[in-house]
Amino acid sequence: MSPALLRIWRAPAVTALLLQGACLPLTYALVWLLLRAGADIDYAGAALIQGVLASAASLWRRLAAWWLAIQLLFPLALLGGLGLQLPSWLFLALFLIFLLVFWSTFRTQVPYYPSGQRAWNAVAALLPARPLNFIDVGSGLGGLVLELAARRPDSTFCGIELAPLPWLLSRWRAQGRPNAHFVRGDYETLDFAAFDVVFAYLSPAVMTALFKKASAEMRPGSLLLSYEFCIATKTPDLTIQPDGGGALLYGWHF
Ligand SMILES: C[S@@+](CC[C@H](N)C(=O)[O-])C[C@H]1O[C@@H](n2cnc3c(N)ncnc32)[C@H](O)[C@@H]1O
Repeated sequence: MSPALLRIWRAPAVTALLLQGACLPLTYALVWLLLRAGADIDYAGAALIQGVLASAASLWRRLAAWWLAIQLLFPLALLGGLGLQLPSWLFLALFLIFLLVFWSTFRTQVPYYPSGQRAWNAVAALLPARPLNFIDVGSGLGGLVLELAARRPDSTFCGIELAPLPWLLSRWRAQGRPNAHFVRGDYETLDFAAFDVVFAYLSPAVMTALFKKASAEMRPGSLLLSYEFCIATKTPDLTIQPDGGGALLYGWHF
């Protein structure tokens, strides 16, 4: 199996889905036995049995605690959703919207969530005074890149984003701003040596790998910034509380 396929295969969301599938025949057999024994089991009862079995299997597979709750409630939610008798095109439309916005979040474990003005102000204050090359890895709708590009016309600001819809919107928003660029792709394929400052607002799931990549590629004198998420194995050189509160901004000098 190729490394890319292996990563998809090992993604918690894929494991969770496979476990739901694997528990279905077990639920079927259990409901059949209970009905034969005279128990009064309706669809909601069967969905609850399926949820309990999938949740137990997820505990066995050591999925994170929130997956146990999702696995328990998923069959009941599915049943409730079907009961609403909504038109089937609505499910397809919702699926397509979620796909375009979140794309491979199930694999990366990094959903879209904007960092916000307080974080942007803190990042702007940390930028070196000289002209620089900046990248936001996982740039979402591009707010940070556009804000910094407006403040610093002497420098180049780039964003790379996996999800098609946020990337498209950020490209559209960058019109008329020649020092702001957006690329669609995976930051893991980038060479961080091209940048003076790398900014990340990702998730705890990827921080160790991100720091390993940054340590291998970033040039002396460059700066890695991470909003909210620190790296367990490496004490940051900077820890900044943005004005007005919120999460911390961490920095590592190379
Ligand atoms: C928490 S949001 C941060 C958005 C933006 N940087 C900000 O500060 O507002 C993380 C974004 O990273 C994107 N992402 C996750 N993994 C990625 C990867 N490997 N390459 C590029 N983008 C990625 C997600 O699609 C999501 O939009």
